[in-house]
Amino acid sequence: MQTLTSVFEMQTLAEDLRSKGQIIGLVPTMGALHEGHLSLIRLAAERADTVVVSIFVNPTQFGPNEDFARYPRELGSDLDKCLSAGAAVVFAPSADELYPKGYSTYVQEEYISKPLEGVSRPTHFRGVTTIVAKLFNIVRPDFAVFGQKDAQQVAVIKKMVNDLHFTVDIVTAPTLRDPDGLALSSRNRHLTNTQRQEALVLHRALQKAKSMVESGECRSDRLIAEATHLLGEHRRVRIIYTSVVDRCTMEPIRDVIPGKAIMAIAAWVDEVRLIDNIIL
Ligand code: PAF
Repeated sequence: MQTLTSVFEMQTLAEDLRSKGQIIGLVPTMGALHEGHLSLIRLAAERADTVVVSIFVNPTQFGPNEDFARYPRELGSDLDKCLSAGAAVVFAPSADELYPKGYSTYVQEEYISKPLEGVSRPTHFRGVTTIVAKLFNIVRPDFAVFGQKDAQQVAVIKKMVNDLHFTVDIVTAPTLRDPDGLALSSRNRHLTNTQRQEALVLHRALQKAKSMVESGECRSDRLIAEATHLLGEHRRVRIIYTSVVDRCTMEPIRDVIPGKAIMAIAAWVDEVRLIDNIIL
């Protein structure tokens, strides 16, 4: 496995691989890799000749009061994990390499990014689309893999790809969960055992909504009411939003069409901000 830190080296290698007819799969990450990330790398390895994993804690997607400084950085163990999951190349540039002094160009999707996460994190998706567009230009992958856990991120990136005529296929991988149902996330490490027990209600609320849809309930307000009720029983859990939205546009919908809608939840569990969603 090769580890590259410069844009030029990465572009040169990618060009060389492409000229040999190789299919390149990209898995963009911010490191602190857990089994969820590894499942994305394994999925990419099934389809690609060469899997490139990018590891970059992207400063532009963090708001001023968010956890950029305390975001875990563990390059050594991340490299071992990438290798074991089937990556051939890790691209781990510095912040100066990607955002040198005087950097001033951003990519902004202006519709799907606004609701849900966009309400409390108004600059977040601008940072995500900017870094992902840059990575697409540097690696020029045939496809890139993103986790369904960040459903709005997937929708925003798909829209950017379509609007800006990127030729990258966006592959969505299912959310990986611990056996108790908690969606894997780098933030879970900040939860104490008690907080973790309370956090399980996010998945329970989503499952309840899904089972209601399976039993014929399609009115979003009923699903939201039930989920909110369950979440409200946990004193450490404070809801940021519970919404039923179209999974492509993130627009709220009144009646669920199975397969086309998700329920998305964001909540604080004490001081840890968690998100989760389920396809209804
Ligand atoms: O999902 C993430 O980890 C990040 O938002 C991404 C896609 C790697 C961009 O920094």
